[in-house]
Amino acid sequence: MIRFENKIALITGSTQGIGAACALRLASEGADIILNGRKFDERAEGLISQITAMGRRATFIAADVSASQNVVNLINDAIKVYGNLDILVNNAGVEKNHNFWEVTEEEYDFVMDTNLKGIFFGIQAFVKYCMGAGRPGVVVNMSSVHEEIIFPHFAAYCASKGALKMLTRNLATELAPYNVRINNVAPGAISTPINHALLENPELLNSVLKNIPMKKLGKPEDVAAVVAFLASADAEYVTGSTYFVDGGLTYHYEEQ
Ligand code: NAI
Repeated sequence: MIRFENKIALITGSTQGIGAACALRLASEGADIILNGRKFDERAEGLISQITAMGRRATFIAADVSASQNVVNLINDAIKVYGNLDILVNNAGVEKNHNFWEVTEEEYDFVMDTNLKGIFFGIQAFVKYCMGAGRPGVVVNMSSVHEEIIFPHFAAYCASKGALKMLTRNLATELAPYNVRINNVAPGAISTPINHALLENPELLNSVLKNIPMKKLGKPEDVAAVVAFLASADAEYVTGSTYFVDGGLTYHYEEQ
């Protein structure tokens, strides 16, 4: 399947985990890729080699997307690399496990600035470009099942992903007249470095698996496949939605 011929995609936080899988999936379907992370490292170097070996172009732009000016610069720099930008995947995200009553302002800002503020102003910069250039655009936000279901001790994370749900619903309407589609992907438990503590703790892992009807964790590639669908013309009539990739976790029911 080659759905992204002549398309340029920027994926934030794409040197590992779900973001890296998205980069490889979009490249495998013909897209040229702008990778992003806080700094260039051997993972970025490895991904550039993999993408280049597929016959696609790939570049890395370092930017901490938690600061609005950084993310605006990232979008503008990304547009300059290959002359335009078609797809923005807002993947970078962070979480902090802390009792609600102990969360500091610094921890709150760390989570909200990356998972919400950076995304807000990144989309804004992308939309200004699309409007100015008279080009269509596609945005896919990496949300979480926690835009919908609770996660005790992760209050800021839930607040950020819940806000992302409404941001997407709202922008779908506001941006439809400008040919910009926007959707969320909501992963459940996916085996990536963000879940390091879970993967290292068999007891915790078993208690998580109990709540997943499919009784297994997802893979980054499972999420990337849905991102690719939403970014493609196959989803041309889809905007303002959230697609769950969670093995049934969100709406599961435990039979007694
Ligand atoms: P990860 O921690 O493996 O990868 C996230 C990447 O984003 C890392 O490379 C990190 O360096 C980068 N990043 C973080 N903050 C950044 C910043 N300020 N600027 C630039 N890059 C930054 O995480 P994973 O699991 O791949 O998660 C990706 C997205 O999926 C996140 O938004 C996360 O909330 C979401 N998600 C993940 C789930 C999972 O089970 N792995 C479940 C639900 C949602």
